[in-house]
Amino acid sequence: LAGHHYLHLPGSDPGAPPLLLLHGTGGTERDLVSLAQRLSPGSTLLSPRGNVSENGANRFFRRFAEGVFDYDDVRARTDALAEFISAACTQLDIAQNRLLAFGFSNGANIGATLLQRQPTALAGGILLRPMVVLDEPAAPDSLTGKSVLLANGTFDPIIPADHPERLAKLLAAGGATVQRHTSAASHNLTPADLEAATAFLESL
Ligand code: MLT
Repeated sequence: LAGHHYLHLPGSDPGAPPLLLLHGTGGTERDLVSLAQRLSPGSTLLSPRGNVSENGANRFFRRFAEGVFDYDDVRARTDALAEFISAACTQLDIAQNRLLAFGFSNGANIGATLLQRQPTALAGGILLRPMVVLDEPAAPDSLTGKSVLLANGTFDPIIPADHPERLAKLLAAGGATVQRHTSAASHNLTPADLEAATAFLESL
């Protein structure tokens, strides 16, 4: 794990699923900590910092412009993050078979590409304001038994209107159980997102 910036907060409740926090563009590994602790008190938290710098803003993969992605970089960073997750779970004694992504925006997007390309990295995830980055279905049966929540806003200027539905299909192609939550919101999170995430965790 040398060379990686990350936060590891061991949880107090072995029954609570460990969470992989994935921040948005310009964030750090601390951004989602208090939200995650409210959502799932007692969960172990593993929170890597995105290792791409866009003029100083941390991200999880490169883009040429907003919504214009560097697909080779997306694939390579997704695979490298999967390796980090496995190594971290082994070294820090985190139950990877129960690990749920909890990602926002760019972090939600790499959560989705992890599920598409590296399905063994995660047990599922809560993806807040995700979009389609890789237009590739998950391999058949690769996500069977895993659950994913996609939470989007109806007037989010960053996410094209058809993307949540398209992403749901790409993940369902792998056998994932996909729940979608749509609220009257923009790209920023609102209390409805936390409520949806809470209901999702209770449904698992
Ligand atoms: C991305 O680049 O992943 C998306 O545009 C979301 C963002 O980070 O603004």
